[in-house]
Amino acid sequence: MSKVLITIFGATGDLAKRKLYPSLYRLYKSGVLEEDFAVIGTARRPWTKEMYEDVVLESISSLVENEEDAKTFASHFYYQAHDVNDSEHYETLRELSNELGEKYDTDHNKVFFLAMAPEFFGTIASHLKSEHITDGKGYERLIIEKPFGTSLATAEKLNDDLSKAFSEDQIYRIDHYLGKEMIQNIFAIRFTNFVFEKIWNRDFIDNIQITFAESIGVEDRGGYYDHSGALKDMVQNHILQVLSLLAMDKPKTYHSKDILAEKIKALQSIKIPSTEEVKEDFVRGQYVENDFNGQHFVSYRDESQVDPESTTETFASGAFFVNNGRFNDVPFFFRTGKRMTEKGTRINIVFKKEDSIFGPDQKLQQNVLTIYIQPTEGFSFLMNGKEVGKDFNIGEIKLDFRHDAAILGNSPEAYEKLIYDVLKGDGSNFTHWDELKASWTLIDKIVDVWSKNEVPLYDYKAGTMGPKASFDLLEKYDTEWNWTP
Ligand code: BG6
Repeated sequence: MSKVLITIFGATGDLAKRKLYPSLYRLYKSGVLEEDFAVIGTARRPWTKEMYEDVVLESISSLVENEEDAKTFASHFYYQAHDVNDSEHYETLRELSNELGEKYDTDHNKVFFLAMAPEFFGTIASHLKSEHITDGKGYERLIIEKPFGTSLATAEKLNDDLSKAFSEDQIYRIDHYLGKEMIQNIFAIRFTNFVFEKIWNRDFIDNIQITFAESIGVEDRGGYYDHSGALKDMVQNHILQVLSLLAMDKPKTYHSKDILAEKIKALQSIKIPSTEEVKEDFVRGQYVENDFNGQHFVSYRDESQVDPESTTETFASGAFFVNNGRFNDVPFFFRTGKRMTEKGTRINIVFKKEDSIFGPDQKLQQNVLTIYIQPTEGFSFLMNGKEVGKDFNIGEIKLDFRHDAAILGNSPEAYEKLIYDVLKGDGSNFTHWDELKASWTLIDKIVDVWSKNEVPLYDYKAGTMGPKASFDLLEKYDTEWNWTP
């Protein structure tokens, strides 16, 4: 299907090995990539084509059923040692690019994947243009990994640099959450079900709860994470993207232009909190040592590459408000952190309380639609019903639908779907510059207040669901985190 030459910058890195090569292999096995594609991997190391093929084969080994087939796939991979700052290296890259374009008959279609440190994004993009690796003859698409800036100012600078060489519709900014099956399912749940679509607003929804909990710590990423923190690592991108899918109005069509227009509007409608509101409605925390599940976990400050006096938050929680008419005054609570009790990514849509005619002895639950993103995928709906028996008693009923293991096993990886979208030229599941601008404006405000250290940085024990202040926040709004297995 796809005639294309893919150039990967950062070909020896972790992301390429863990995500990109397996995703490309799955696209190859499913026939999206056939004979007329080639991949150029670049990085500083002086590898040969043989070494590169071996790395590719190693990274796809768990997916391989037919060795010959895998070898044919790997034969499409070429390696070019490359210093991103050296113009001469781009000349060599152009020659290889032209040669492979002809050999594999790729119709001049080119995808560039920047899977490396963001400080090089601008340099690479401008060299691709100045050294005529892009020639405007086929499609030319640039895939960018996060982080896209560390503030509005740095994101703007980066965007200006990229814009000199690529137009907005050629830039695909990855937010891998948008490739997740159940995140994409939000569209189906919202816009194909009469009962939900009609009540998806402030008249019926009490609050929305987004939990992106992780049980892992910072692993070997302390150096990066200590300069980022939970707010920039998870909220600015993943949480706000998901929030926009939950809060947006119904797009006119299921096409990227209409979808992005509505997402942008939703993000621009999020209220920028005042300094007082940041202090009241946002909570930050850092994990401290604890014994949990038979294991000892060290404090964040004792993790490798982390400043022993670090004030970086490993947990962030808060309440956003989306003033778009549909959701005015409805809190969108979020929480995310490292070293929490379990890996659990979920969204709860909590509906309003029904007036009871049954007296104080009968406790009525608020209806809750839960979307389970990972590790299980599916949804549940919490409702009330009559308990079996002679007497009339109200009990809680949970309608539960989870994908079974077979479906999960076959469900494509986020990266596979996102690369597939790029090959199709579909930007629906990527972040538009206007979305980034809105989200950075919001995050900058919180960072600004937090950096003045006038708000507490709460401790929370490794293996817990974050500091008490995050629970108190919901109590203040007369609700609580809804979290059942
Ligand atoms: C990344 C963050 O964007 O998302 C990581 O940088 C985090 O810190 C990861 O662990 C979580 O992604 P997933 O797909 O495992 O939920």
